[in-house]
Amino acid sequence: INWYPGHMKKTKDLMRDNLKLVDVVVELLDSRIPYSSKNPDIDKLTAGKPRVVVLNKSDISDRAKLNRWINYYKEQGIKAIPIDAMKGTGVNKIIDECRNAVSEKMAQLKEKGRKERAIRIMIVGVPNVGKSSLINKLTGRKSTQTGDRPGVTKGKQWVKLRGNLELLDTPGILWPKFEDQDVALNLAFTRAIKDEILDIETLALRLIEKLMDIEPEKLRERYKLESLGESGIETMDMIARKRGFITGRKEIDYTRTATTVLNEFRTGKIGNITLEVPEDIK
Ligand code: GTP
Repeated sequence: INWYPGHMKKTKDLMRDNLKLVDVVVELLDSRIPYSSKNPDIDKLTAGKPRVVVLNKSDISDRAKLNRWINYYKEQGIKAIPIDAMKGTGVNKIIDECRNAVSEKMAQLKEKGRKERAIRIMIVGVPNVGKSSLINKLTGRKSTQTGDRPGVTKGKQWVKLRGNLELLDTPGILWPKFEDQDVALNLAFTRAIKDEILDIETLALRLIEKLMDIEPEKLRERYKLESLGESGIETMDMIARKRGFITGRKEIDYTRTATTVLNEFRTGKIGNITLEVPEDIK
């Protein structure tokens, strides 16, 4: 996706239209980068709308840091729910929390004598945080779609969930933050933005430098190095030699090394790693 200004405006407008239809917004974040994966305008966009914060990919993020993020949200009166959208762990809690978030409003409507209706929710997040995976897990295969109904824009599909919930079946894809260099790198490391932003050798080098700083042991263990290099490039060379990524002309195959390190980070093979902690927020 190319986030040029016109596209952002379109997305924003579409988002506003969809927001009118839902009672609760599920804000999906990547638990490895809860700050970097947060859309910069989400607070403004959803102002006045109950929101449930969900931290995805908890299977490959750092457990202790995950708790620090949960506490960070708790201090602000927000319950953040850690999940694994692939396995489905924690997904049921989202339904409970959505019900909680609107229980007062629904009770008030009932007092006014209104007929009980389903609680409508939608999932929003930046690319690649796991929105589709979560939708699949929430709906399962046997879920039924509700038919056309007044007030629902044509083409929108609602899927019934347990607990009298209805989910908008298309997620709201939002643009990520761009302004900050560290944030952009975090997004590229986790693939929320495309590799083309930097050449992949440089991207992998930046990741190695970052891991040397925050998780040197996990990096050392994964590549069975006795010690890490003095610099990122030295460590990258050591990883290449260890894995035998050498070209026919006996030069280091940086492309292959970079691809490997990035893939192994993204799939959690280097370990459970979280790239930022609440204290990093400026
Ligand atoms: P866009 O369509 O680009 O906006 O992506 P999306 O937010 O719908 O993400 P999607 O569900 O396609 O997942 C993106 C990638 O993350 C896929 O490779 C998934 O397999 C992976 N993924 C999603 N959830 C999890 C999770 O909880 N743990 C792990 N390890 N991987 C996950």
